[in-house]
Amino acid sequence: MQIALGVDHAAFEYKEALRAELERLGHAVLDCGTDGPAAVDYPAIALAVARAVRDGAAALGIFLCGTGIGGSIAANKVRGVRAALCHEAFTARMARQHNNANVLCIGARVVGRDLALEIVRVFLATAWTGEARHARRLAQLAEAEADTGTPS
Ligand code: RB5
Repeated sequence: MQIALGVDHAAFEYKEALRAELERLGHAVLDCGTDGPAAVDYPAIALAVARAVRDGAAALGIFLCGTGIGGSIAANKVRGVRAALCHEAFTARMARQHNNANVLCIGARVVGRDLALEIVRVFLATAWTGEARHARRLAQLAEAEADTGTPS
């Protein structure tokens, strides 16, 4: 798979380990930055990851910042993106099975590097179940996303 990978400065120390793990697993990495430890604004990078998924340049996206919160908020602004903030393997598995999440967010100041790598492995190894109840709920989310915000 082609995987879009982005981090902000708070997670920069994890980036090469993530890239190496993705490549070890046979994936190609679309690098969305950042390229060094200097402070950057997380929205631009998280949005680049999310847009790569939306546009089909990547099948899935991975974004890490300090907490993962800002990145998940940003990524979920992009139409068609379902970003999940996961701090352990269980939520990573559920994010794929139930929510068909297509962007994984992790907080590098929340979880250690080895756990972050495990979360990534679980996320990538798990498929959406496709069950009708989950499809119905995802359709409801898509419907809300199409809402223009104009009161009816
Ligand atoms: C950067 O200090 C920090 O705010 C960012 O990495 C992230 O945690 C935002 O949600």
